[in-house]
This record gives sequence, C-alpha cells and structure tokens, in this order.
Amino acid sequence: MRKPMMVANWKMNKTRDEALAFIYAINESLPSCDVVDTVICAPAILLRDLVKRQGDNLRIGAQNMHYEEFGAYTGEISPVMLHTTSVEYVIVGHSERRSLFGETDEFINKKVISALSHGLKPILCVGETLDQRELGITSSVIRNQLEIALKGVSSDDIKNIIIAYEPVWAIGTGKTASPSDAENECKNIRDAIKELYNAVTADEIRVLYGGSMKPANAKELLSCPNIDGGLVGGASLDPTSFLELVKCCL
Ligand code: PGA
Repeated sequence: MRKPMMVANWKMNKTRDEALAFIYAINESLPSCDVVDTVICAPAILLRDLVKRQGDNLRIGAQNMHYEEFGAYTGEISPVMLHTTSVEYVIVGHSERRSLFGETDEFINKKVISALSHGLKPILCVGETLDQRELGITSSVIRNQLEIALKGVSSDDIKNIIIAYEPVWAIGTGKTASPSDAENECKNIRDAIKELYNAVTADEIRVLYGGSMKPANAKELLSCPNIDGGLVGGASLDPTSFLELVKCCL
C-alpha cells in the first residue's frame, strides 16, 4: 500500500507573513502523517521559518536547487544550504524550470543525484507539451525524461524519489488531464520504473498528478489506482482549498 501524498507548490507566491498565516491555519486540521504525507514547497527564503513552525503532520520542501555544493553560481541555492534548513523534499525538473530557465534532462539528472546524496527527497516532474501530446508521443517523451533524469540512481536511492506527472498544457491553465489519461500516463511511469528497476520498486514508488488539480476534480483523479497524490500550484495557495485537497487523499 502506497501512502498518499499532497504537495503544495507555491511557486513565487506568498510573503513571510502570508506563509506563516497559512501554516497556522492548517497545522491543527491536517490528517495524521501516518495516513497522508502533506508537503508545502515554498520559496527558499521562507523555508527556515516554515520548518520551525511546521506541525507534526506537515513537511516542508524546496522548489529548486543547484547540484553543486557551493561556488560561483549567483542567485542559486545549494543542497548543503537546503539540508541545513531541515527541509525533506525538493522539486526537481518542474516544467517552468525546463521551459523558462532552460533546464535540460541532463541538468535535472545532476540535481536528482545531488539531492539524494544530501539526504533530500526529489519530487521529479515529467510531462509532455501540447505539441508533443498532439503528435502522439506523450509516453515516449516521458519515458525519455525518466531515463535521463534517473541515470545513475541506484535501486536503493530510487525509493526516496517521488515522481510527478505534470502535462505541461495542464499547468496553470485550468485544463486538467482526464482521469483516464492521467491514470494511463502514471501507469506508464510505473511500467518504466519496472523496466529500469524492478517490479517491487515500481509498486512502491509514489506517482503524483499535477496540472490544475483542485478540490472539484481531485477525488476522481486520486481514485485512479496509479495516482498516489497531487502536486498542486494554484489551488494550494488558499488554506481551505489545500486542506480539502489533503482530505481528498484519505
Ligand atoms: P497548477 O500547477 O496546479 O497551478 O496547475 C501545478 C504545478 O505547477 O505543479
């Protein structure tokens, strides 16, 4: 049995005051982390403040990191720095990083390896663009992204990775993949993990769906057998809506 997981991706939103008000609003109402993992991935500048105030049932994650430990990378945050904030997760390979900041699969692979070696759990995002979908190459695009991003990840380390299937055309657009399409691609991801690793790992790894998930469509998506949770942007910014999403996992 895979434990469900609901991850907020706040992106470049919320001041410190807004972020603290948010977690004070949800901390007491979150279901036990024995039954669902609830994670907020916040802007780096807020991480330490949030970790200090996270309740027993909340975990904090970063949205990005560089793969090097230190050096001349103006504006970047290293895995060592993230580790000292005590965050548990880091989003890697989000489509906004790929499309707006030019991140390649090879670059993402270096981040995955580096995150794991610093005790951080990568939430690895994969997904097709609208053009790729219309060309009918969704599954091979995802397969290729996975193969490169996971190069050199051992069968022990893969257990610390969460994969998020995020069709690029569904992110922030209000368009959601149909539950059957989302389920198919999440199943393809699991099949790829089976080929790259083994059946047990494929059965254990958590695969999330992301792309305009909201309380109104979450139940149906989350009831699909291969979808273990959500990675949510817009609908995670309001505490009531995020709490509802967490509860949809139960
Ligand atoms: P969205 O974003 O829920 O606003 O579509 C999801 C994401 O980018 O992870």
